[in-house]
Amino acid sequence: MAYIKLELILASLDDWPQAVLFFDEVFPEGFEQYDPRDILAHLAKGDWDAHEYSADILAEDQARLTAYLAAEDRDRLADIKYRWAALGLDGAWTQTPYDLPDQDAWRDHFQPMKVTDRIELCPYWASPLGEGAVVVLTNPGIGFGTGTDETTQLALRLLDQADPAGKRVCDVGCGSGILAVAAKKCGAGEVLAVDNDPQAVAAAADMAQLNQVDLTSQPSDLLQDVRGRWDIIIANIVTDVLLVLIPNLNDRLAPTGQALLSGIHKGRLAEIQEQAAQYGLIEEARLIGKDWCGLALKKG
Ligand SMILES: C[S@@+](CC[C@H](N)C(=O)[O-])C[C@H]1O[C@@H](n2cnc3c(N)ncnc32)[C@H](O)[C@@H]1O
Repeated sequence: MAYIKLELILASLDDWPQAVLFFDEVFPEGFEQYDPRDILAHLAKGDWDAHEYSADILAEDQARLTAYLAAEDRDRLADIKYRWAALGLDGAWTQTPYDLPDQDAWRDHFQPMKVTDRIELCPYWASPLGEGAVVVLTNPGIGFGTGTDETTQLALRLLDQADPAGKRVCDVGCGSGILAVAAKKCGAGEVLAVDNDPQAVAAAADMAQLNQVDLTSQPSDLLQDVRGRWDIIIANIVTDVLLVLIPNLNDRLAPTGQALLSGIHKGRLAEIQEQAAQYGLIEEARLIGKDWCGLALKKG
């Protein structure tokens, strides 16, 4: 169906609250909002990593609101612009023809994928490639880690190399639970998945159900609410959070245990290595991807 993509770029961030209220009123069916300060706030809190954003995005100082209207709705469009003008706020409108994709077209972006000789990721609606002994079904619709990220793939490669069969595995920052499920499907014994986001904890439980495996998912800020020692502690989290996790790893690993870390930006590998060495961990393996790295560490 033919639509118009309507975008309002605000001249001043001061007008943001009023502009959002205006869009709330005139687009009750929903709209998209982009405020560059959101990114900066997450970076300042340390839960997002600045290396993931281009200089252009970090320098962005214009907020945008976007909505979609049926192309034949010309009267409504004129009315919205008239009401905006009456508010006396400064902003530039752009409008471009837009064909809304089929409802299910996004699924084409997610195809079965062989990550290691053994592990294959497969969206639940697709047929597995059948090349690996372990097929992890994913539900990309729920987000929280679909397996397409380089960081997740590095973590899966480390996990496969560590051979989880019969081991106790704790997945810290589990997101969708993809690593925890992969561990279980590779024959791990007890598997615990933790995250400080309750929605991720629920997503991991759903993922376990989808894959028909038995694991526990629970909320925890890193290892704070995790008991016992683990043969494998796997964490794919941003570098700043890994730096906080590392000092607690040695105590929480079983005598021959391993910590598998991913989410390390290439530019910050040395920081992680120094922190690991300072807290008595010994590097056993290093994977270098395009932008990201993964490390396998053992107790010192
Ligand atoms: C990059 S995602 C990884 C998701 C999944 N493990 C994967 O590999 O695809 C990082 C996850 O770490 C979680 N996280 C961030 N800080 C955390 C903390 N302090 N304690 C527990 N989880 C945390 C986030 O909520 C997010 O789900």
